[in-house]
Amino acid sequence: MATVVSFINFKGGVGKTTLSVEVAASLYKKFNSRVLMIDLDPQSNCTLYWLNEQDWEKQINGHGTLLSFFEACLVEKPFDLSSLIATPTRFSKAPWYKDFDLKNNRGIKLIPSDLRLFGVDLKLAQRFGFDNLKSQLFLKKALSEIDSEFDFIFIDCPPNLYLTTQNGLFASNYYVVVALAEYLSTLGIAHIQSSIDSLFDSANNTVGSSIYKKPELAGIVFNKVRYLTGGTGSQEDFMKRIRGKYPDSVFKSYVSQSDKIAERPAQSEPIALSDYAADQKYVQQMHAVSEEFYDRITRPKQGK
Ligand SMILES: Nc1ncnc2c1ncn2[C@@H]1O[C@H](COP(=O)(O)OP(=O)(O)OP(=O)(O)O)[C@@H](O)[C@H]1O
Ligand SMILES: [Mg+2]
Repeated sequence: MATVVSFINFKGGVGKTTLSVEVAASLYKKFNSRVLMIDLDPQSNCTLYWLNEQDWEKQINGHGTLLSFFEACLVEKPFDLSSLIATPTRFSKAPWYKDFDLKNNRGIKLIPSDLRLFGVDLKLAQRFGFDNLKSQLFLKKALSEIDSEFDFIFIDCPPNLYLTTQNGLFASNYYVVVALAEYLSTLGIAHIQSSIDSLFDSANNTVGSSIYKKPELAGIVFNKVRYLTGGTGSQEDFMKRIRGKYPDSVFKSYVSQSDKIAERPAQSEPIALSDYAADQKYVQQMHAVSEEFYDRITRPKQGK
């Protein structure tokens, strides 16, 4: 059974997509893992990372996207998620691509998103109500039919906690919060945790038992860290305070703001695969985050 992980923050632009792609790629690279990425965000950044536009369009008009899945859910029609799984054609000419053994899912595969997924949250809420358990479990149920075919399933969430994101959380074993080392970005951490608590409490109350297991916080990763000048008011000082507030939850490793990365052409390949070294510090930091992610989800739990 795959380990399912959601990358989440209510704040946009913090690096959820970037980190989910990089950690996914590094798991394949390191363990030859079978990795499926699910793009739950109508902005479709993760989709466009792995597919070029023509192939995305072909997919939309052919096999379909997550929109087809949720449309079937709206009319409560059974749907086989495996029909949506696409191969990451955008990098098919990259030297590392030939090592993917996609017939056996060893590499990265993708369930693409669709810009029109924006309307789905509202339609789901209108059809089933905002906190209806059935509508929160669509993805979990559908994934249970394909999760033996993958080692990891990474869900790139949109910056909100509407019904599609709730579907991602119900399907997940873990979640990773990606945050900037600044007040507004971390303000949401407690809110994310309490929202997840109440989602699962309410689901378990509905069925009168605790069968729905909350995803575990794999950790909080700081990204785009800018100034490590020391002293009060610096980002280092800020990260220290957040570490004090969430002991054990904050990743030891973090990723700096990399102006070279920000300027990279849109064709940029995942550094875990290309080892592209325009910014060696970024490459090393990203490797460290991926290693720590794996350590965190595999280390023995205290008290268990
Ligand atoms: N460490 C970094 N240094 C510089 N640029 C970065 C870094 N991490 C991410 N970026 C850039 O910041 C932008 C936003 O990143 P990303 O799309 O991963 O954020 P997101 O949290 O998924 O956003 P959204 O909520 O809109 O989906 C992208 O252009 C990405 O290339
Ligand atoms: Mg994103």
